[in-house]
Amino acid sequence: MERIESLISDCESWILPELQNVFDSESRDDITVKAALYSLLAGGKRLRPLMMKMTYEMMGGDRLKEDDVRYFAASLEMIHTYSLIHDDLPAMDNDDLRRGQPTCHKMFGEGIAVLAGDLLLNRAYERLFTLCLDRPEYTYAARMMCDRAGINGMVGGQSIDLDCEGRNIPIEKLYELQEKKTGALIESAIVTPYYILRGTDSRSAANDSSVMLLKALASHIGLAFQIKDDILDVTSSSEVLGKNVGKDARDEKSTFVTLLGFDNAKTKLADEIDLASDVLNKLTDFGYNTNDYRVLTDYLYSRDK
Ligand code: IPE
Ligand code: IPE
Ligand code: MG
Ligand code: MG
Ligand code: MG
Repeated sequence: MERIESLISDCESWILPELQNVFDSESRDDITVKAALYSLLAGGKRLRPLMMKMTYEMMGGDRLKEDDVRYFAASLEMIHTYSLIHDDLPAMDNDDLRRGQPTCHKMFGEGIAVLAGDLLLNRAYERLFTLCLDRPEYTYAARMMCDRAGINGMVGGQSIDLDCEGRNIPIEKLYELQEKKTGALIESAIVTPYYILRGTDSRSAANDSSVMLLKALASHIGLAFQIKDDILDVTSSSEVLGKNVGKDARDEKSTFVTLLGFDNAKTKLADEIDLASDVLNKLTDFGYNTNDYRVLTDYLYSRDK
């Protein structure tokens, strides 16, 4: 098995039991809970939990905090899944295939899909508050995760994405769109474990050189990830990708492919992978083991789904 495949499958085994238990058994008969679990447990690559696990391990780990990292990782995956459920709604991208199965609203209807997204977000925040009641030193980490999901992050990016449908935008606007829409949750995945490991110091650690390097890494990985997502929308198939293809052109979206052209998008992807590698070299100089992150960046370049 290739190294990336074992990293992804180890991460799935690490995160799945946590995801299976995010709703208590009494609530599981509810149709909205069923819809939320339908999307959450459908798989997906689990790249955000993987990045959290990788940063935790790269920073040397702390066995006493691994469960807390996993708990945060599950919350982030819930937020990501909610964003996908809403992204697929007819009012947004109107897609009928996600993670290899019919989209949430195709299975459960639009109203329940809206609620399933709301519920995943709400439950993620409830979980974070619950943990912070016991471990107030994690409040900064939780607060930053919420920031990355909101108007400065994913919601803000989705807002620009919809607002810019059907018109040409300047390239700077495309960068802002990407940084928020996809980059922000990826940044949260890459940086949060550092805050967790720093505990009570996490707020003052926000300007640490390690945080700066992790944010720089996140910025290149996030950009590479979205450029590849835009490329795959043109080159892949729905069978391989588990979601429909050709939808960006159909919806007149502003993407790296529609704005820069296919060849320039590919060059830009390679550039971002090289820049991520430069940051990893700096992290290696700091004494961190970056091997797994290098496997991940190679995969982000070549992935076919
Ligand atoms: C898709 O994210 C949505 C974007 C942010 C472009 P992923 O490609 O990580 O989706 P899953 O989690 O594997 O389904
Ligand atoms: C959505 O971006 C990113 C989210 C915040 C959900 P896309 O609309 O490009 O994602 P896909 O291609 O449908 O997965
Ligand atoms: Mg979209
Ligand atoms: Mg979409
Ligand atoms: Mg896309």
